Amino acid sequence: MTDTVSPSHPVSYPPSPEFAAQANATADLYAAAEKDSLAFWAEQADRLHWETPYQEVLDWSDAPVAKWFVGGTLNVAYNCVDRHVADGRGDQVAIHWEGEPGDSRDITYSELLADVSRAANAFTALGLVAGDRVAIYMPMIPEAIVSMLACARLGLTHGVIFAGFSSAAVRQRVDDAGARLVITTDGQWRRGKPAPLKAAVDEAVDGAESVEHVLVVNRTGSDVDWVEGRDLWWHDTVTPASPEHTAEAFDSEHPLFILYTSGTTGKPKGILHTSGGYLTQASYTHYNVFDLKRDTDVYWCTADIGWITGHSYIVYGPLSNGATQVVYEGTPNSPDEHRHWNIVEKYGVTIYYTAPTLVRTFMKWGRQIPDAHDLSTIRLLGSVGEPINPEAWRWYREVIGGNSAPIVDTWWQTETGAIMISPLPGVTATKPGSAQTPLPGIAARVVDETKPVELGESGFLVIEKPWPSMLRGIWGDMDRYRDTYWSHFAEQGWYFAGDGARLDEDGDLWVLGRVDDVMNVSGHRISTSEVESALVGHPAVAEAAVVGASDETTGQGIVAFVILREGVENTGEALIKELKAQVATDISPIARPRDLKIVPELPKTRSGKIMRRLLRDVAEGRDLGDTSSLVDPKVFEAIRGS
Ligand code: PRX
Repeated sequence: MTDTVSPSHPVSYPPSPEFAAQANATADLYAAAEKDSLAFWAEQADRLHWETPYQEVLDWSDAPVAKWFVGGTLNVAYNCVDRHVADGRGDQVAIHWEGEPGDSRDITYSELLADVSRAANAFTALGLVAGDRVAIYMPMIPEAIVSMLACARLGLTHGVIFAGFSSAAVRQRVDDAGARLVITTDGQWRRGKPAPLKAAVDEAVDGAESVEHVLVVNRTGSDVDWVEGRDLWWHDTVTPASPEHTAEAFDSEHPLFILYTSGTTGKPKGILHTSGGYLTQASYTHYNVFDLKRDTDVYWCTADIGWITGHSYIVYGPLSNGATQVVYEGTPNSPDEHRHWNIVEKYGVTIYYTAPTLVRTFMKWGRQIPDAHDLSTIRLLGSVGEPINPEAWRWYREVIGGNSAPIVDTWWQTETGAIMISPLPGVTATKPGSAQTPLPGIAARVVDETKPVELGESGFLVIEKPWPSMLRGIWGDMDRYRDTYWSHFAEQGWYFAGDGARLDEDGDLWVLGRVDDVMNVSGHRISTSEVESALVGHPAVAEAAVVGASDETTGQGIVAFVILREGVENTGEALIKELKAQVATDISPIARPRDLKIVPELPKTRSGKIMRRLLRDVAEGRDLGDTSSLVDPKVFEAIRGS
């Protein structure tokens, strides 16, 4: 994270007076939250429609499981859709949807309400009742968002599975959640071609006891296998259903969704989020961090609904604020590298939120591509998912943001549910590469083992007090919840985020990345042990060790070291290709190792622990540091020679 600030670069970029004058969030927010944080959060919750008012803001008596807005009831979908129609905004476009092949649809809030109501009626007719789980394995099409909202409307708990995951990953998640319904599509568009999707579901749910139905949207017109009685077409089931549906209110702590994310072991964690607190913070952060003006802004978050960013900043945050937003189905280079900028021009996008890895990809493609477009509508830029290096930050501001748009570098996690650390765009003088300041109401700190670090020092990133959108547990494994997040600082009662961070001399926070065995590849969280277990699942592999090595474009790249079983012939490239493919099939193409080395031995400590630090040195081509704790330092010569 070192950056030499040349004299031609300002150290920080204050908001323009014009931006500051119109901003939703002013510095008063910090003071209000500081004075009385529970009263502050109550004020944010009051931006929502509650059917029954809550009696208590926070009940922390069962820590670390929080209850927020105790006794209150609300309907999350009503807050995201019906409320705006009731306010006379039914004709406002909620979603400008852009399909990858070039088809598009504008969906108003009234139309969205009718679609969500149809889906809610259809799901009810299938016998689903509040508390049941529904798996959603779909590309970025409107029906995916409609499905999530219909679940929320009925009190069903959705578990969205990224459509890039393999059938094995789907099965694991469907089983863990005990999903009764799986919603998918026949196929998905990828770079101009349809790729099958339902086939993966067929494989995944074969023999899955909990699954009663598979609901299929016809997206690509591809041939699919069909299981009579189990499989249902969306157009036969949802489309003909009644567009009228009255939403029922649920308890503030009713489970809203489970979203699986990688931990430090092979088994993904089902992160559980509930309703009132989650929606309060998703809505509050979206309004203040992105400075949303519902009458004039066209907001675009380029994430996928398979990740938490899609949940909080495509579905629940923007829709609760009555935003008009762009949702794009495909990849940024389909049909060519101009796609995002064509979309910005077509819809007049004003707020653009993406990941650093994509910014770096745009840099690689060259500024002549965005320069060929009128991007002058853009007034705010956001970054999420990994540290953004200062060079990419400056490029983003200058080339995409016309040298004036503030950049909000937002730090948060699947577990935190919503943004925790970020500049406020009308208040903060932004600094390239730093996420800077905990949001009003958020008690994030950098600490050593016992206390906050001094300015200029590094340490662990912790959250000292509960926050409304915090996870309420790991689905089916509350011991793992306590152990993963609350055992490191058990005495202090702090939440440990798993990230390292540094406080600079001004007190601004720089997120340094994970301090555990979780890699961050293009903003995707992948655990080293998940990839290792995929590799040892191959009959040729005896042992595997995986590390994240720094990578110019993707942040980190996966590098795997593999020992073969006795008697297996090392066929070199052919075997390497096969092993990489094994990981892609077992987890997802995003987990495919960038490099894979077949080695005779792995470096281990005397207690038998693989020394990943040393493997990372090898992977990054560095000189080896201290190898004195190794059983046999010569192992390295063998690894390097292989
Ligand atoms: O390491 C941090 C990194 O992404 C992790 C969370 O990943 P996930 O749960 O998949 O959520 C990603 C989208 C919110 C964090 O522990 N991370 C996220 N945002 C930033 C970041 N690292 C640095 N700067 C950020 N802005």
